Amino acid sequence: MTSAAQDHEQQVYPPSPEFVATANAGPELQAAADADRLGFWETQARRLDWATPWTEVLDWSEAPVAKWFVGGQLNVAYNCVDRHVLAGNGDRVAIHFEGEPGDSRSLTYNDLLAEVSKAANTFTDLGLVAGDRVAIYMPMIPEAIVTMLACARLGLTHSVVFGGFSSHALRSRIDDAQAKLVVTVDGQWRRGQAAPLKPAADEAVSEAASVQHVLVVKRTGIDVDWTDGRDLWWHETVDKASAEHTAQPFDAEHPLFILYTSGTTGKPKGIVHTSGGYLTQTSYTHHYVFDHKPGQDVYWCTADIGWVTGHSYIVYGPLSNGATQVVYEGTPNSPNEHRHFEIIEKYGVSIYYTAPTLIRTFMKWGRQIPDAHDLSSIRLLGSVGEPINPEAWRWFREVIGSGTAPIVDTWWQTETGAIMISPLPGITATKPGSAMAPLPGISAKIVDDNAAPLGAGGNGYLVLDQPWPSMLRGIWGDMDRYKDTYWSRYAEEGWYFAGDGARYDEDGALWVLGRVDDVMNVSGHRISTSEVESALVGHPAVAEAAVVGAADETTGQGIVAFVILREGVENTGDALIAELRNQVSTEISPIAKPRQISVVPELPKTRSGKIMRRLLRDVAEGRELGDTSTLVDPKVFEAIRSQNK
Ligand code: WT7
Repeated sequence: MTSAAQDHEQQVYPPSPEFVATANAGPELQAAADADRLGFWETQARRLDWATPWTEVLDWSEAPVAKWFVGGQLNVAYNCVDRHVLAGNGDRVAIHFEGEPGDSRSLTYNDLLAEVSKAANTFTDLGLVAGDRVAIYMPMIPEAIVTMLACARLGLTHSVVFGGFSSHALRSRIDDAQAKLVVTVDGQWRRGQAAPLKPAADEAVSEAASVQHVLVVKRTGIDVDWTDGRDLWWHETVDKASAEHTAQPFDAEHPLFILYTSGTTGKPKGIVHTSGGYLTQTSYTHHYVFDHKPGQDVYWCTADIGWVTGHSYIVYGPLSNGATQVVYEGTPNSPNEHRHFEIIEKYGVSIYYTAPTLIRTFMKWGRQIPDAHDLSSIRLLGSVGEPINPEAWRWFREVIGSGTAPIVDTWWQTETGAIMISPLPGITATKPGSAMAPLPGISAKIVDDNAAPLGAGGNGYLVLDQPWPSMLRGIWGDMDRYKDTYWSRYAEEGWYFAGDGARYDEDGALWVLGRVDDVMNVSGHRISTSEVESALVGHPAVAEAAVVGAADETTGQGIVAFVILREGVENTGDALIAELRNQVSTEISPIAKPRQISVVPELPKTRSGKIMRRLLRDVAEGRELGDTSTLVDPKVFEAIRSQNK
């Protein structure tokens, strides 16, 4: 380890006495979890309203498929909406919506209840019943959240597909889950332009036999094609439906949603989450990790509902806690780089949760931009998606957090459903760049290949050695893949393999080091190397492709591809490269576009024919080559290097 890294590890930021005085978390939290872990989770589950209490906290007899709060029944939407209204907080703002073009509206919990009820009545009229799947392909507008909650209310399992994904990606997710309804918009606002979205939905749905209806919110007013009988306008259906709806309870293990994420092979995995345990842990973590005070704080999580962060920390965690939050539709530099800071100022945002890639972008734009605004309302900052580098951490605290706001660096995954490892504000003395420790109730270990626990200083694998309430319950339609991906590595021990490297420092602080598999992390988005490779090989000019994630100053990792052309294909240079980048964009999404594509004569392979990505990463990052002794032909690098200038 370098001495610079050691310096970081010695720098500690203890909580201020003022923060400690009012913090939600006290030392009793960890003590309670240590004394009786399952009892601790029962206490957390009582944060929610249950129609029927559970009879057993955890049934792990069919491991690795857990059942939490067995026999318990609740309605997730009731917990996120109705109960706040019934408690007399109906006039509290739930969502301050800020549209990209500058329109804004605020929805109270009363409003949210009416909207969710109308949508639920409409979905019922369309013939949907509990257990059916609904695909949601929408930008960040209130109707997207209303749709998710209406699904939860009816026991429909939603599958949100990021609005930046291509029709191909949408289509494969609709098919995999056999969705009956797709909810989308005519278009979305992006950098001042109305970008059509319905055409992509139309294309995806055109041959999808499962889809009976496409429900369309008019967001931009642009022209759309219309299929009578199949397509419905939101304003002609939902807006006209009754605002009265009584929620029915569902089993704690009723599937709440499917969310697709990249794995090490080409096909995205439909991660399945259920109701009672998921809501318990999202509610618990949102309350303690963000020190959230309902009725006082204005919370803003900058994620998109297309990712798990949006599910857990825009929709279910905050709303279950009666939060008042900001939802912003657009990009941070539309119309200019002041946008986020104007929004913080306008609403008095007190808790701001974002990703390291955005923090580094702000750093690049310069501190004069945030400095031009009154950000004094901010009292807590959060980071998620990738390891945050200490420089970005310090800048975040200094410039956005006026040098005093605690930062919670939250480690978790789509699969874990909720935050697992994070400082607790008011308790933890933090170190810039470290996620610090598992939360009370959560157990993690760092181990080597042989499952031996590592002490300070050793790099190992992060495993979760005890089930947790918001854990995934499987991969939709592929339980073998579920077992194989997460549970086969430490099968004997029965541990969940997270796919991340990690280490403890001398003080016992936990440092997450990044993925140890073929999954890249680009701007906090998980993209598999093989997914991009198969998109490239799908182009008629390409015979073979190898993709690696190379260090990138802003996005964490950037995608670098090496391709071999088919015999007889002419290399047209920039024109070909542009075509290949577009291919990836339409097959997957613009976020998966390689930063760089090099046409090479050969790929470095081992004698058994495995592509040596480690060496390609060395090339992509401009390093001296590592050990090449297992290569068939070490000279291939001279050719690759000369193409990679
Ligand atoms: C992967 C999960 C969790 C919601 C957003 C991403 C990386 C996430 C951190 C962090 C270091 C982090 C890991 C993890 N990651 N948060 N605070 N420090 N690494 O969810 O797409 O499921 O990705 O993101 O590599 O495995 P995801």
